[in-house]
Parts: sequence; C-alpha cells; structure tokens
Amino acid sequence: MCGIIGYTGHRPAVPFIIEGLRRLEYRGYDSSGVCYAQSGRLNVVRAEGKLALLEDKLANMEVSLATTGMGHTRWATHGAPTENNAHPHRSSRGELCLVHNGIIENYQEHKNALIGKGYCFSSDTDTEVLVNLIADERAAGMPLLQAFANALKKAQGAFALALMSPEEPDVVYAARHSAPLLLGIGQGENFVASDIPAFLPYTRDVVFLEDGEIVRITPGTWQVFSIESLEPLDKRTHHIEWDLQAAQKGGFKHFMLKEIFEQPRVIADCMAGRVDMARREVSIPELADANIPSRLRIVACGTSFHAGLWAAPLFETWAGIPTTVEIASEFRYRSPLLEAGEAVLVISQSGETADTLAALRIAREKDCPVIGVCNVVGSSIAREADAVVFTQAGPEISVASTKALSSQMTALLLMALYWGHRRGVLPAGVMQEALHGLSSLPGHMENSLPALREQAKGLARRYSACKGMFFLGRGQSFPLALEGALKVKELSYIHAEGYAAGEMKHGPIALIEPDFLSFFLAPHDALFAKSKSNLEEVQARSGPVIVLTNPHTEGKELRAAETWTLPEAWGPLNGFLMLCALQLFSYETATCLGKDVDQPRNLAKSVTVE
Ligand code: G6P
Repeated sequence: MCGIIGYTGHRPAVPFIIEGLRRLEYRGYDSSGVCYAQSGRLNVVRAEGKLALLEDKLANMEVSLATTGMGHTRWATHGAPTENNAHPHRSSRGELCLVHNGIIENYQEHKNALIGKGYCFSSDTDTEVLVNLIADERAAGMPLLQAFANALKKAQGAFALALMSPEEPDVVYAARHSAPLLLGIGQGENFVASDIPAFLPYTRDVVFLEDGEIVRITPGTWQVFSIESLEPLDKRTHHIEWDLQAAQKGGFKHFMLKEIFEQPRVIADCMAGRVDMARREVSIPELADANIPSRLRIVACGTSFHAGLWAAPLFETWAGIPTTVEIASEFRYRSPLLEAGEAVLVISQSGETADTLAALRIAREKDCPVIGVCNVVGSSIAREADAVVFTQAGPEISVASTKALSSQMTALLLMALYWGHRRGVLPAGVMQEALHGLSSLPGHMENSLPALREQAKGLARRYSACKGMFFLGRGQSFPLALEGALKVKELSYIHAEGYAAGEMKHGPIALIEPDFLSFFLAPHDALFAKSKSNLEEVQARSGPVIVLTNPHTEGKELRAAETWTLPEAWGPLNGFLMLCALQLFSYETATCLGKDVDQPRNLAKSVTVE
C-alpha cells in the first residue's frame, strides 16, 4: 500500500529515487512523485498514473545537482488517484514536504483545527493534514525532530513517512507505526524505504525500524530515536543475503511468470535444512522449543488464507490437532474465544498485512502463543510472533501471489508431519510416502511446467471470452479452487467464483450457460466420483467444462469434458501441480485479454491498511 523511499548521499538523487520506486511499484501504482533539494529549495514533481509518466515530466527538468530527495508510489486511500492527491505533499506555507504510506484515522479533526488556524489544503489526503500538523509544531518553535515527533504523537492510524525541510537540505527524517520502513546503510550515503529491493543495488546492510521510531539520515550519519522520548536508540544492522537478481525478471516477460517457474526451487529451498531424507525425518528447529498446540487457529488473508484452508486437514489427520481457519479481518473484530493450549498460526507472505498483524496482536493480548509462517525476514509479523517458520521463497514481486503459496503449503505440510511425528500419531507410512513424494516434487514440477504453460495457453485462447467462471473442487482441491478463482479475478477482471463442488446444486448452478465456464479440480482421489457427478450436472445444462485431473481418470469417464491431465503425485502433493496449472491458466487468460499481469488495477501487494 504505497511505496516510499528517501535518499541522501553523493549520487544524483532523482534517478536513484525513480529506480527505487520502480522496484516498489508493486506496492501501488496509481500515481507517483518525487521531492528533491536543489539550490536550497525543495522541488516537488508529481504525476497521475504509472511511474513512466513521472519520468516523462522529469525528462525535461534539470535535476542532476540534487543529492537528497524522496519519492512515493501511491495506492489511493484518501482521495482519487489524481496528481493533486499524489505525494509528496507540502505544508501550506511550503516549508516541509512529506511522503506517507498508511492512513491517519483522525485526520479530519486535525484538519478542522488547522483550518481554524489559517492553514489551507489543496488535496483530499490525510497526508497533507499531517505535514501541516508538523509545520504547526515547527511554527511553535520546536526543532524539526521534536516537531515531527509531537505531530506523530497526535496522529492515530498507520504510517511510514519520510520528511524533508529546506532548513536541512541534506537530511531525510523518517518514522513508522504499523507500516513497514527500513533503513539502508551505505558508504557516504543512507537510505530509507518501504522494502529492501528499493536500495539493494547500493547496500545490503539494513536496519529494521520498529513502531514508535524516528530516524534521521545525513550522507555520513544515521540515528534512530524513540518518538515518545526522543532518546537515541541502539539498533542492530542486518546483512541481507539475497541479491538483486532475485528481485528482477530474469528473462521472463512478467514477474508472475518468473515466480511461477521458480516454484520447484522454492519448494526445495523450503525443505532444505528441515528434511533428512536418509533418516526419513522432518525437523523444524524454529518450533523445537514451542509446545505442540492442542488446537490450532489459522488466521490469514487472501492467498495465505487459502494456504491455511489447504493445510488444515493435514494438521487434523496427520497431527491430530483440531484446526480452524479464519480470515484475519473477521477474526480481529469478533472477540474470539481462545482455549488454553490453543495456538494462533498466522500465515503471511509479506509479514505486514494489517489485518493479520492485528489478529496476531489480539492473540498475544489474550496470552495465546502465536506461530508465524512468513516469507519476509524482519517483517512485523516475523518479529512479533513467538515463533516463526520462514518459507524462504525469496522476494515475491508480482502482485498476484504464486510462489509464496507453494512455499507456504510446503512449510505447513512439513509442520503437520513434524507435529504428527512428535505426538506419535502420524498414520503409518505417511512420513515415508510424503518425504519420498516431496523429494521428487521439484523435479517433477520443473519437467511439467513448460507443457502446462502450453496447455494453459490453448485453454485460455478458447475460454477467455467467457463471461464468468466457476472453480470447483472437493476436499483439499476446494481451497485451490478458491485460489484459481482469485487469480482469474485479480488478473483478468472476469467474474470468477471458487465453490465447493457439492454446493453447486444449492444455487450457483442457476448461472450455468454456454458462455459460463466451470473449471473442475478433480484429481484421482477418493472424491473423484463425486466431483464427476457435479461435472455431469453442469454438462447436462450446456455449461462448458474444463477438468483438471490425473491420467487414471482420463478416457471414457470424462468423454464430454475438456480434460487437462496432470502427472499424478502422492496424495496432497497433487495440489502443487494443480496450483501451477491454475496459476498458468489465469496468467495466460489475462495475457490473452491484454491485461497488465504484474500490476492489475486497484490492487497492491502489501496491504498495510484495513
Ligand atoms: C494482498 C495480495 C495477496 C495476498 C494478500 C495477503 O491482497 O495482493 O496476493 O495474498 O495481500 O498478503 P500476505 O502478505 O499477508 O500473505
């Protein structure tokens, strides 16, 4: 939800900021802007639309002398995505500039008070209110650091901010509360940004800022302070191991396609250090000291929620742990009852999703242990959970999540095996079969992906004109059906619904028509015959059908359907190949329709607002 970046150092700031914003564009891309200090003044340039339009504007300006600046790429919360509402925002007397990711909930009361004092507003944003609140503190005689902190203490909501003033033209101030912000430490230059890729080509030394912290950077110094007391704080520097290559397209047309094709490696990386094939054992060192919960409450959003739904039966059947799965935005507002011995398991790729983070905090307030399954090291959820299992998927840039889900499914499956084994309840043969299947899964997947893509292309060509789509599955295929529908909605803007196949007859079947596709997930499992009956019910009503299945179910049984046959894997591992097929189908459908795959309209990758 918006990307911010700040720089001060020795290189031209504006090209650096644009390059950084390009790597943050996944966080929002409806407008953008920069502020740079030149000849003692702060200059602001903003543009509606994609970053390229800002670049067009800057192309005719002389900006090369500026070595301090900040930038913003926006996902609109307050006010339409116009140039006027784009960041940076200036205080009404023009002395301060601010970029902001998040929401100031009590902005209206401050706006009214500031108008009463003679401040003027030219945008609909909460950010413009905050910059004037800081200016008001400054006008009252507070030094800038103090003025910034005082204003932040009056602001309710979530924010990551960067602030500049012409009084200190080579300084950037930044602060965070419930929105991500990192400090990058360079040689004669320092950085702040919403995410690491923004400055990764220039430094891998990072300081993770916590809620309630302000940082002041100059080219040669940095210091973190408490917003509350303005005491200087000691902070640890972390060295980031992954490189920019991991955050670039690597020859693929889109990040999404690259990330789909990375899944074999991601699954292997997630198993590394956790699976001992020789001894047929799984160990999760991160959970070694934690009690095994007697009940599990999985809480997550979006695709991560689907990972939880997919894994729940594994925790129940393999580890004997009763498991329920909830959407974080619901969990947080319904005073959930949590039992002694229960644990909350939060799943989040980014580790910053506002609703999931709030759910974590509620569980902790109730003294319920929280286990995080997270991708981003150093994220809020990773830091606040009692134990974290990292999915090790590497940076996921595409707004539509793909490889994160495979890595979450792998991590959750390993956790179910691990707990089942530790509790002595794992059904006989499961460890053997699962590890055997998992060890060959990456190779299996790698060999299958190119053909799957070709098949997805053909199907997309034939069905992308459909006016609507159902994705239908039973058992562990049901969460994947939800994911298939989510991907098509996100990328193609076709109305798509995921349903439990058995629910079709309770209403949805009324929608079946010749241009309404039903995409069945019917692997060769105990529920195949049931799904087949549902499929025939659709065909009897002239609805087109694609069925994703395995070789054993091919042939006469599914004669009338468009069958998409995947190589068979063991039990739940079939889900990984089905997932790839669904991802590729949605990718190819969106491509066929000419949609912007990596930056679908109205979306953002990291949802740090409610
Ligand atoms: C956004 C993204 C989804 C993601 C969801 C949860 O909506 O577009 O792809 O699944 O947030 O994100 P998280 O980082 O918590 O997994």
